[in-house]
Parts: sequence; structure tokens; C-alpha cells
Amino acid sequence: MQEQEYYTLYNGVKIPKIGFGTYKVTDDTAESVLCTALLAGYRHIDTARMYGNETQVGNAIRTAGIDRKDLFLTTKVWRSALSYDDAMRSIEASLQDLQTDYLDLCLLHWPMPEVDRDAWAEKVISAWHAMEKLYEQKVLRAIGVSNFLPHHLMPLMVAANITPMVDQLEFHPGYTQSYAVSYCQSQGLLVEAWSPLGRTKALDDPFLLELAQKYGKTPAQICLRFALEQHILPLPKSSSLQRMQENLDIFDFSLTPEEVSRLMTAPQGQWSGHHPDTF
Ligand SMILES: NC(=O)c1ccc[n+]([C@@H]2O[C@H](COP(=O)([O-])OP(=O)(O)OC[C@H]3O[C@@H](n4cnc5c(N)ncnc54)[C@H](OP(=O)(O)O)[C@@H]3O)[C@@H](O)[C@H]2O)c1
Repeated sequence: MQEQEYYTLYNGVKIPKIGFGTYKVTDDTAESVLCTALLAGYRHIDTARMYGNETQVGNAIRTAGIDRKDLFLTTKVWRSALSYDDAMRSIEASLQDLQTDYLDLCLLHWPMPEVDRDAWAEKVISAWHAMEKLYEQKVLRAIGVSNFLPHHLMPLMVAANITPMVDQLEFHPGYTQSYAVSYCQSQGLLVEAWSPLGRTKALDDPFLLELAQKYGKTPAQICLRFALEQHILPLPKSSSLQRMQENLDIFDFSLTPEEVSRLMTAPQGQWSGHHPDTF
């Protein structure tokens, strides 16, 4: 990938500007879907302990013959592992399944634990200290969070020795979480967009169709470009080579500030229904 296709995290680590999402890439086709994505040119893979596909991701990387140093690999610690020891064990298991001795990025998946929700801040901070330890040992090149809103980040930022480099949030036309995105960006976190296509629900919006026609692109490409215009890193998932390639082909056009503004301020109803405080 060329220089302009990377973001740089505040610790200097470079991260490809688009990643391949792997949620629900789990059945017996998972390995071949992942190999296809690598062969299509993806060099940034987003998985999670909870997705149950880390072994397939590890196998696909080996099968595709991609040099580990050319790949940016992210996984996440599930909310059942929000303690120092459980987070350590979760990351060890991820490393083993992914068949690697380091991760480029590790995230705490959600702020709320499965039990003891009132103690969420303590639990998050305890798990965070495990991530910091592994960061210091260079097992993790970057550390961050996912689904953390400003009121989850604030206590973490106070207690942390190393502040998060990334927050992965649901972001797409129809759910842009402007307040959370602005807060993260003001604190130096890179925002990643999960469900950047709104799981296709966003794609038949008339304004997206109009933009697609204007730029000779598809509505999906407009969604992904929209994330880039906001300095946000999209993580589209696809099971087809043609759509994987389409989703990578977003670096040869730009949206105008007026178009971005219209997409940012469109009615906000198209979300997945998962809220960090209640999920
Ligand atoms: N941190 C979190 O809590 C969290 C939560 C959810 C997701 N994520 C991450 O974000 C990634 C992406 O989110 P997502 O999988 O929920 O949704 P998404 O990427 O917004 O949408 C995926 C859907 O869009 C379709 N699609 C892909 N490219 C397309 C194109 N060019 N044109 C038309 N349809 C297209 C896919 O179908 P085909 O497969 O048939 O192509 C699939 O049905 C996940 O895989 C995961 O890595 C993180």
C-alpha cells in the first residue's frame, strides 16, 4: 500500500486506512474467505476473541503466505475477561490461535462486563493494566478500546499509564455518533468504524445513490469514503471477491464538505441497536 493509505497512531505505529471485518466469518468457508481477502489486497484484519475465528484467521495468513510484518492484525478482549488475569489469558489464547507472537492492535471489546456491571470502571482499568503490561513487553504494538463512549473513556484516561490509541465505534450514514467521534479525536484516538456499511441497511438511501451516480461509484464505496473523509478507518466485511475489491477501491475520489455535512446530519435511526451502556 502507498504512504497515503496509512493512518499513524499517536505512538507512531502505522495502520492501513481500511481493514477487513471478520464478524460472522466463521463457518467452514471462513478460511477461504479470509484467504480471498488477503489475496484481494487487504493487509489489515479485524477479528475478536468473541468471533470464534482466530484459528481460521491464523490459518489463512499462513496459507496466503503473507509476511507477518506486512500485515496489521487486530483482536479484542471480550467483556467476560475484564480483569487483569482474564485479559492476560484471553490475549495469550488469541496469540496462540492466531499463530503469532505479537498483535498490532488489541482492544477491550465493550466497557460493560457480563456480571458486576456497577464495577465496570474498576474491571476495565484492571484489564487495561494487563494490556499496558503486554504493550510494554512489545507483545502488543498498540492498545485501544471499542464501544467506549466519552463517559467510559474519561475514567480510563485518568487511571491509565498509557492512554488508548484507538476506539472502534459503530459508524455509518444514519449513525455517526458525532459527539463520541469528536471526543476521541480531540484526545488523540483514531476512530475505527464498525459496520461501516450499516450491514447494508444504509445502502439504499436516495442521497447515497445520488452520490454514487455522481462519482461513478457504488453506495458502499460512498459509505467507506465518507468514513475516510472524517479521518475514520472503515472495517467492511464481505464474503465476495468482487465486493472485497470494490470496498478497497475508494482512494481515487473525495466527497465535498457539503456532501459530508449532509451525510453527518442525516436522520440518525439506522443503528444496530447495541448501546454500550445497555448491551
Ligand atoms: N467492535 C464491535 O463491537 C464490532 C461490532 C460489529 C462489527 N465489528 C467489526 O466491523 C466489521 C464490519 O461490520 P459488519 O460485518 O457488522 O457490517 P458491514 O461491514 O457494515 O456490512 C457487511 C454486509 O455488507 C455486505 N457488503 C459488503 N460489501 C458490500 C458492497 N460493496 N456492496 C453491497 N453489500 C456489501 C456484506 O455482504 P457479503 O458478505 O455478502 O458481501 C455483509 O452483508 C465486522 O466484520 C467486525 O470486524 C465490530
